[in-house]
Amino acid sequence: MTSILKCTDLIAVLFLLSLSSTRAQLKTPDNVCAANPPNPLKLSGPFSTCAASVKKSLGQRHPDQNKLTPQILETYNYPYKTYNITTKDDYILTVYRITGSPKLKRKSKGVKQAVYINHGMSLASDCWNFQPNSRNLPFKLADAGYEVWLGNGRGTTYSLGHKTKNANFDIGYWNFSFHEMGIYDVPAVTDKILLETKTKKIFYVGHSMGTTQYFIGLSELPEMNDKIEAGFMLAPTAYIGHMSSVIRLIALLLAPYAQYEIANGLLMGRTQSAGQFRNKLKLSGGDVCDLTAAKCGVCDNLVFLLFGYNAKQMNNTELPNILAKLPNNIAIKWLSHYGQFITTCKFQHYDYGPALNIKKYNSAQPPEYNLQNITAPTYFFYGEQDNLSEPNDVKITASKMKPGVLKGNYKVGNKYFNHVDFILAKDADLLVYNKILSEMKKFKPK
Ligand SMILES: *[C@@H]1O[C@H](CO)[C@@H](O)[C@H](O)[C@H]1NC(C)=O
Ligand SMILES: *[C@@H]1O[C@H](CO)[C@@H](O)[C@H](O)[C@H]1NC(C)=O
Ligand SMILES: *[C@@H]1O[C@H](CO)[C@@H](O)[C@H](O)[C@H]1NC(C)=O
Ligand SMILES: *[C@@H]1O[C@H](CO)[C@@H](O)[C@H](O)[C@H]1NC(C)=O
Ligand SMILES: *[C@@H]1O[C@H](CO)[C@@H](O)[C@H](O)[C@H]1NC(C)=O
Repeated sequence: MTSILKCTDLIAVLFLLSLSSTRAQLKTPDNVCAANPPNPLKLSGPFSTCAASVKKSLGQRHPDQNKLTPQILETYNYPYKTYNITTKDDYILTVYRITGSPKLKRKSKGVKQAVYINHGMSLASDCWNFQPNSRNLPFKLADAGYEVWLGNGRGTTYSLGHKTKNANFDIGYWNFSFHEMGIYDVPAVTDKILLETKTKKIFYVGHSMGTTQYFIGLSELPEMNDKIEAGFMLAPTAYIGHMSSVIRLIALLLAPYAQYEIANGLLMGRTQSAGQFRNKLKLSGGDVCDLTAAKCGVCDNLVFLLFGYNAKQMNNTELPNILAKLPNNIAIKWLSHYGQFITTCKFQHYDYGPALNIKKYNSAQPPEYNLQNITAPTYFFYGEQDNLSEPNDVKITASKMKPGVLKGNYKVGNKYFNHVDFILAKDADLLVYNKILSEMKKFKPK
């Protein structure tokens, strides 16, 4: 009964959001950055294809669907170590280090270069294994002789640790945006990699919110630039005024600090994950997408409704595995902060409202991040049908970078490529990962 209610509530919310889309569009101040109206919810066309595939896949099983990252690595014989890394602000992150590959017979001589892979919002380290036969990014890199470090952002089901706060009971745990992840998580993991591998620089690969953290970390802490050999931004997410995904509407609702505080209190800081860890972690109620609700299809289809569905690039056999892992937890403050980027068309610190801003930032307006402070060689990869990191916005972000720093700004060679195709597309290796590898080869180990 309760799950039926939750499911219909969700439909109602989505319906209201779609109705409010016209209003939300008018509220954006600057018509240069809001050229695209948000796409209303379309329950036909690609979405119905998607709904049909999702429905079919619900009865099927995938051997990896209930496996966590360590079990996946064991299954495919990639040796790994686990690290718990404590950040300066006391969050404890679990990071997996792939130390070799079953395809490399001899131990490679000399220094192995390390790659830090940082996932996006609603994802975790287990999002990087949807291309089978070692065609996925971590395995490809390991096969090519790199060390691969798979990050798990604070708040994901893998990294709920904190020195004093309990993620399940203490709402204070959830008081962070990707800002804190950029200035605390990224440096903590980077320093640990440098220490353990005894190298001077690492490669960084970020997807979506993983790129936001890179942009913030490297611009707020310029010394970080010396630790990065090169950064690869998949779906660069900084200036996002054109965002047309339905997420735009949710983010706009949460953008004002007062509204964020209400939603944050109601939801205990986050929306919860698809349910794979529910039993293990004994998470409390409040899930919108529990198993019964999922049967109505909406919850599973939600992922594609928000992020887009590329039928030609979807491997339907892989779908049960994908649906078991998406979405992971979403902190309400991430949505709120992104909402502020959308309303202001700026890339700036979290806006607490004028009074609190003066206390925190010494100015009524939050300061903007300065991408000019990034000096590490950086590459962008973007999709033509990315409705979160729209091509128009990627252009703006690129224009804010210091001349010469952006070494490549690549449009992915598939005209339906969307935001999540960077992890889901069955040919992501041919379309994106091979290019990353060939660019990395230009940087010789030091
Ligand atoms: C990391 O922390 C978790 C949770 O506290 C613990 O279960 C695990 O054993 C730790 N792992 C390592 C390698 O320290
Ligand atoms: C959340 O964190 C911000 C910045 O770190 C701080 O100013 C604010 O007081 C915190 N809010 C709560 C409710 O703990
Ligand atoms: C970023 O660069 C600007 C000048 O371009 C400088 O004023 C500012 O202090 C830098 N920010 C940091 C955090 O170093
Ligand atoms: C994404 O944007 C494209 C082009 O504007 C549009 O055709 C498509 O329907 C959108 N998809 C979603 C899921 O919003
Ligand atoms: C689709 O996924 C299945 C299951 O992982 C795999 O066996 C198959 O090779 C994949 N097909 C393509 C075209 O990637």
